[in-house]
Amino acid sequence: MAARTMSPNLALNQLVAERQAAGEQIVHLAFGEARLPVLPEMAQQLALGASENAYGPVAGGPAVREAAAGYFTRRGLPTDPDQVVLAPGSKALLLALQLVYPGDVLLPRPAWNSYAPQARYAGKQVFGVPIPAECGGVPDPAALRETVARARAAGHDPRILILTLPDNPTGTLATPELVRQLAAYAQEEDLLIVSDEIYRDLLHDPATPYLSPAEVAPERTVVTNGLSKSFGLGGWRSGVARFPANELGERLRTDVVTFASESWSALAAPMQVATAFALSEPPVIRQRLAASARLHGAVARAVYEVFVDAGADCRPPTGGFYVYPDFEPMRDVLAQHGITDSDTLQRHLFAEFGVAVLAGHLLGDDPGALRFKAATSLLYGHSRAEQQAALDSADPVRLPHLAQVLGVLAESFGKLCGSRR
Ligand SMILES: Cc1ncc(COP(=O)(O)O)c(C=O)c1O
Repeated sequence: MAARTMSPNLALNQLVAERQAAGEQIVHLAFGEARLPVLPEMAQQLALGASENAYGPVAGGPAVREAAAGYFTRRGLPTDPDQVVLAPGSKALLLALQLVYPGDVLLPRPAWNSYAPQARYAGKQVFGVPIPAECGGVPDPAALRETVARARAAGHDPRILILTLPDNPTGTLATPELVRQLAAYAQEEDLLIVSDEIYRDLLHDPATPYLSPAEVAPERTVVTNGLSKSFGLGGWRSGVARFPANELGERLRTDVVTFASESWSALAAPMQVATAFALSEPPVIRQRLAASARLHGAVARAVYEVFVDAGADCRPPTGGFYVYPDFEPMRDVLAQHGITDSDTLQRHLFAEFGVAVLAGHLLGDDPGALRFKAATSLLYGHSRAEQQAALDSADPVRLPHLAQVLGVLAESFGKLCGSRR
């Protein structure tokens, strides 16, 4: 078995923490955690759940599955509680899906860094397919056809297509038209679609049209989601999957629950209480979602402008809290600093400017490209008070602590690329 290394974003996060503890000023853009204060009402629910100490049903108890079914139904996906499985994080559910469903995996390239290692743990081959010019999270349809044909000709058996809507790492959302095309192709080729919708409630403009593949290919789409991103509760570990309402869905769900029964047993019972509250979406939850989406949008756009001003190409971010610039137009300038690929770009930014980013090749992208992922959600402040002020502000990028860090970033990239202003 190939040597395995720790997930690169978690490894980098630890390195940054060590350097910060040693007193260094680091602009941390290398970890996708929505660092926001816990909503007091959520903390209250968790405390209420503390007296729940039974293991409970593996898929989750009736109350939380009912709440999840309501959540999906309100998003245009009519759902019965029996289609739902809860777990300690959607990462566990994504791994379980890959373990129980046969065939190789098709991924957008670049993609979130855990899909490919999970596929390899499941003994699968991974086929990365370039993303379209306008957005990430989905493969370019023409390139997908070519990849599938090539993989089959080489004796492989691609059967799972993973989509991220909106996307990590590009911070963009595939259009309904693209989703329709990919769903039709999946139907033609009998692919299972795994639609990772963990950033769904973080569209910067709530009017952005959203189409889940589960609306157009309901018979073959599993949707995953969770509390980690939309509520900034990554450490609470709560995820959910919705399976198709047919024989395939029942079989898959049974297989995932069987795997769960041998591994995590169930979502922690107190967490089920908190998750049921979040997914039932009372007004306080809806307000928090709207405020955090606004904040993510404002800061992601400000960081996007820093990169574009420095000379990069970049898709404007529309959802979640990521920006994925391409410094190809600045290749000659960067070469003067010894930067020739995504690895040297990441290293130089960290060593010279204390700016931590995640190099594109760690996300499956071409190692020779000058691309990286910047997660913008750790910029909201170090203290709870700063983070809350960012959340409450109508114009967060003007708050002194945010303006300061954005200034440092602009200065660093200005120096790197030779200020063009
Ligand atoms: C695209 C994507 N899917 C899934 C996850 C994992 O989320 P969870 O905390 O639910 O395991 C992440 C977290 O970074 C993510 O970015």
